[in-house]
Amino acid sequence: MPGCCHGVLAKTTAGRRAYAPHVSSRSFDVTAPLDADAVLIRDVGPRDGLQAIDQDVSLQTKIAMTNGLVAAGLRRIEAGSFVSPKAVPRMADSRQVFEAMPEASVAREALVVNERGAHAAVDAGVDVLVGVISASDTFSHRNVRMSRAAAIVELTRIVEVAGTAALPVSVDLSAAFGCAFEGRVPVGVVADAAEQIASTGAFEIVLADTIGAAAPNDISTIVAAVRERVGDDVELGLHLHDTRGLALANATAGLDAGIRRFDASVGGLGGCPFSPGATGNVCTEDLVHLFDALGLSTGIDLDELIAVAATVEHELGTRLPSRMLRAGPRFTRLAT
Ligand code: COA
Ligand code: ZN
Repeated sequence: MPGCCHGVLAKTTAGRRAYAPHVSSRSFDVTAPLDADAVLIRDVGPRDGLQAIDQDVSLQTKIAMTNGLVAAGLRRIEAGSFVSPKAVPRMADSRQVFEAMPEASVAREALVVNERGAHAAVDAGVDVLVGVISASDTFSHRNVRMSRAAAIVELTRIVEVAGTAALPVSVDLSAAFGCAFEGRVPVGVVADAAEQIASTGAFEIVLADTIGAAAPNDISTIVAAVRERVGDDVELGLHLHDTRGLALANATAGLDAGIRRFDASVGGLGGCPFSPGATGNVCTEDLVHLFDALGLSTGIDLDELIAVAATVEHELGTRLPSRMLRAGPRFTRLAT
């Protein structure tokens, strides 16, 4: 691991492994507690945003996007994945994207779905491994060709690999608010999956609305049920898709439910190749604009972030769903 120094695995009173927060020499420590007025955004655009895009994306564009996000103040960036290039060809050059990331106080995160991917990610010098467990068994089979139970066994191996390199593991709990194949997933099933994830030693569970089916009341219900099941040893986050225009409302419901960790995608890019109908993640700059308005601290420069979104839009030659790109932050463009 180049220049890396992370939290140390320790047993908590609940018997789970947790990561002791500490000051890192370079990367941002994702396990450290947040200030009372702070929210922590992970931009997943370079991974979730680009993995399903219907066109070739050059390595140069990926690097410009990722490094632009670092410059705009993002502290967490999911810059790629180490999965089968046959399953997700767009992520085949992830290693080069990670290698091109600048020295900065940023957590460089990579999605992995098996032990092999975990080794590849560690080898590429990433700071955080991101696992995926699907609440629904059907989506688990579609996405990673494993049952949920088998994926949990694989996650345990991923956590072992990460532990050897002293890296924390965050886990997306996908289809937590509904599945493209099974419809609504019962709350108890989602809570069971969260409990299984927590028992592996992951420091964070990110509840993912993969198909953009959640309404604000679902956010309150699922967050409360999962929190009750996993206790306070595990951080909870939200990964929202704006498929039905409810992502910002859902983020607000998340805040009300005590969530301070959010995934988002610059420009509102996104989708999942294995979940029919899945569209973009909640747009990072729209989310930052909302949090700014609410007086929360993101550490992100909104104008710089909008400039990154504009560059991505230009490079891809596709109109992105970002509201900030069209309207700009409120009160900044006055009519004459
Ligand atoms: N990195 C690179 N290649 C990998 C790999 C990894 N982490 N894991 C497996 N592979 C390769 C295998 O070597 C094999 O290659 P080959 O056909 O040339 O021999 C191929 O991928 C298939 O491997 P196999 O073990 O037979 O798995 P599978 O076909 O059952 O697919 C996964 C299982 C998990 C590897 C595959 O579904 C996958 O990578 N999914 C990723 C899904 C994803 O990223 N979703 C994103 C939304 S969350
Ligand atoms: Zn997603």
